[in-house]
Amino acid sequence: MTGPGIWSPLVLPRLTLPHRVVRAATYDNLATRDGFPTDAQADLLAGLARGGAGTLITGFAYISRQGRALQGGQAGIDHDDKIAPWARVLEHVRRADAEAKVVLQIAHTGRQTTSGATGRPVVGAGPVRCTYFLSPVRPLTEREIGGVVRSFVEAARRAWRAGFDGVQVHAAHGYLIHQFLSPHTNRRRDAYGRDPLRFLREIVAGIRERTPLAILLKLSAGEDRPDGITLDRAVDYARAIDGWGAVDAFEISYGTMEIPLNIIRGAVPADVSLRYNPLFTRWGRWPVALFRRFLYPWYKKRFLSFAELYNVDAACRIRQTVRTPVLVTGGIRTGGQIADLLARQGLDGVTLCRPFIREPDFVSRLRDDPGRRSACISCNLCTVMCDSPYPLRCWMDAPDDLRREALGI
Ligand SMILES: Cc1cc2nc3c(=O)[nH]c(=O)nc-3n(C[C@H](O)[C@H](O)[C@H](O)COP(=O)(O)O)c2cc1C
Repeated sequence: MTGPGIWSPLVLPRLTLPHRVVRAATYDNLATRDGFPTDAQADLLAGLARGGAGTLITGFAYISRQGRALQGGQAGIDHDDKIAPWARVLEHVRRADAEAKVVLQIAHTGRQTTSGATGRPVVGAGPVRCTYFLSPVRPLTEREIGGVVRSFVEAARRAWRAGFDGVQVHAAHGYLIHQFLSPHTNRRRDAYGRDPLRFLREIVAGIRERTPLAILLKLSAGEDRPDGITLDRAVDYARAIDGWGAVDAFEISYGTMEIPLNIIRGAVPADVSLRYNPLFTRWGRWPVALFRRFLYPWYKKRFLSFAELYNVDAACRIRQTVRTPVLVTGGIRTGGQIADLLARQGLDGVTLCRPFIREPDFVSRLRDDPGRRSACISCNLCTVMCDSPYPLRCWMDAPDDLRREALGI
């Protein structure tokens, strides 16, 4: 079988991507505390566009205050006053590359947050607490669900008015939509429990009806609980979603925030994480030290080890059952791998996150050297430092004094 090459455009029903290597959604800790995008965010995205990234998916943007994440530098799209600042970001990106396509990832955290972060009660599909955040969860009423659907649709309309080329509906990583899709969290007895796809279907239908934007959908095709989303279930969901004819592309990922490192895998910089992670720092010094010494070795056993291409088997299984194009994320590190996924495995594109943090011009380098390997070593300092006051960066190339000050190493 010979599929498309890396540099051939990916033609989706409502958007043509310049080539097949997409920058995956990446939280950057750069928005104001009120969720307004900043010049620094514009510079980050423009740098990626200049480096040939072609299609950029932003970090997850909250659609309502109640759906905010714990991280203070998260951008939002929850109010009309955010349209003009996002439009300025897009102007900046398009000055760097007039052909660049920019997709806003829209999300509601559901149970994966704290009321301290949102100023609201924590809500979810069902009453099950997330073992990472530990917040008590109040199940949404049917009436409230209607309100959340409207917030997603309004967020997408704002994205359209700001000039985005598409939205990516975040249905993965244990956030609210995932909570409806997973039997572990969806314990409802109403129509949204009998039909776990209903919430997502209403969101997608609303966006499709009210905007001409391309809709991408990020799905976890597995999670760290046997009673959660399994690959078989994900395949069934993808087949049903395919039938709606409203989603332009899937992106296949894994996991939930119960074990956040299993979403990305790789090294576990535990000491740096315990230095900044607000869920631990609120305990104080001694409880953290005791956790590190006695509980952490047990907790660590639950981490999945890193293997390159770790979501590819799941993505290929989904690809075989749908007509909608499928992108895959997770541990894709070389030009040869990408070429093979497209030419022989039947996938339509790839998304990369950490390689772009390490080398924002990774795509330009790949054009010069098609077999190129990413310089990212998945040390995951970029990830754990998302909880620190420092903006997103690769810490491998940080100056020594900054490493000492920020990382203590
Ligand atoms: C620092 C960092 C921030 C991330 N932020 C998001 C995000 O906002 N939304 C999302 O869906 N995934 C996010 N991810 C996951 C990535 O999009 C991607 O799926 C994952 O890192 C695997 O790809 P990689 O091996 O190329 O890094 C993030 C990952 C990292 C390392």
